Amino acid sequence: MKILVTGGAGYIASHTNVLLLERGYDVVVLDNLVNSSAESVRRVEKITGKKIKFYQGDCRDKALLDKIFSENDIYAAIHFAGLKAVGESCQKPVLYYENNLMANLALAEVMAKHNVKRLVFSSSATVYGTPKKLPLTEDMPTGEVTNPYGATKMMGERMFSDIQKADKDWHIMLLRYFNPVGAHESGLIGENPRGIPNNLMPYISQVAVGRLKALQVFGDDYDTPDGTGVRDYIHVVDLAEAHIKALEHIEEYGVGVFNIGTGVGYSVLDMVKAFGKACGKEIPYVIAPRRSGDVASCYADGTKAKELLGFEAKKSLDDMCADTWNWQSKNPNGYDQ
Ligand code: NAD
Ligand code: UD1
Repeated sequence: MKILVTGGAGYIASHTNVLLLERGYDVVVLDNLVNSSAESVRRVEKITGKKIKFYQGDCRDKALLDKIFSENDIYAAIHFAGLKAVGESCQKPVLYYENNLMANLALAEVMAKHNVKRLVFSSSATVYGTPKKLPLTEDMPTGEVTNPYGATKMMGERMFSDIQKADKDWHIMLLRYFNPVGAHESGLIGENPRGIPNNLMPYISQVAVGRLKALQVFGDDYDTPDGTGVRDYIHVVDLAEAHIKALEHIEEYGVGVFNIGTGVGYSVLDMVKAFGKACGKEIPYVIAPRRSGDVASCYADGTKAKELLGFEAKKSLDDMCADTWNWQSKNPNGYDQ
């Protein structure tokens, strides 16, 4: 079975591609490399010993999508392509709405034309906005998002749900990821942020490798056990597995909505401590003011994915830190050697 993976050179996609190939799927990647490197595709081929068909281009390009669906007998698409930096989305909202929403529409239109109506969409816990109750369950209200990036995910969910409502032949899985971290155990692929990282784990690992001086801990006065923000970190290889489960169960759903997390929350200081253990040195940090838009705590109720998809995250916080460190220490400059 052939799977089209949009954004297939990116962080989560590259780990998903490894599992897809290992499970016997064929992978066709479409990526414009706006936030990734073709090297990740080569490394996935190295890990698996299998070939990927790679189209370098834009997911908004309907002519290119048409060509891809004409040249390949695609069973389903996993749609990762999108821009994802929250801060940048506040400065460049037009770019974010244009890129993320037009990519959704182009993909849905061309898929329908070719009668390929199975889609897995990368959504985010961000659609819940500020949690009113924890843990978060899929039936909790969405829509109170605080930034254009989050709005594109919320609107993406709505677009795909409306498309399925109008045409019941569609099967669409909306996966709401919590905080993906970690890397493949080989150390060959991992997260490769451009510039100074915005997210916690890549920041800590760049401090550990000596590229950055010290972590700023954004706030130590939250209503959490140690005062720092609590999140549901999930190993990217576990997250990749969730996509395989979503594909296996896709025919059972019109629209399926699933939280993909571990259900366990760790604080910023928990992460600093665990990473220090993994890399064998203390991570220097300073307490800084709260980052605007941050919530105190956010973690998933993963019961629905467990019961209906048979998905459960298996990897521990120590695995997340050890694998991140393995990747970062072997590739201090990511894919740019
Ligand atoms: P990533 O930036 O590594 O991967 C996204 C890929 O999409 C990149 O390779 C980029 O070059 C490509 N891309 C972007 N716009 C494109 C376009 N118009 N045409 C073709 N390719 C395009 O990010 P990631 O962390 O792997 O995230 C994958 C998806 O998951 C994204 O949609 C992201 O919003 C979503 N998500 C990520 C997180 C996270 O914390 N990493 C959390 C929730 C949801
Ligand atoms: C981020 C995104 C969110 C996305 C989620 C899932 C932002 C603002 N939000 O959420 O849209 O859905 O990832 O991947 O980017 N922290 C520090 N110092 C740092 C960086 C982070 O203390 O240098 C803290 C934050 O305040 C937070 C925690 O670490 O408490 C995690 O932050 P981050 O990795 O950026 O993820 P989220 O903010 O949860």
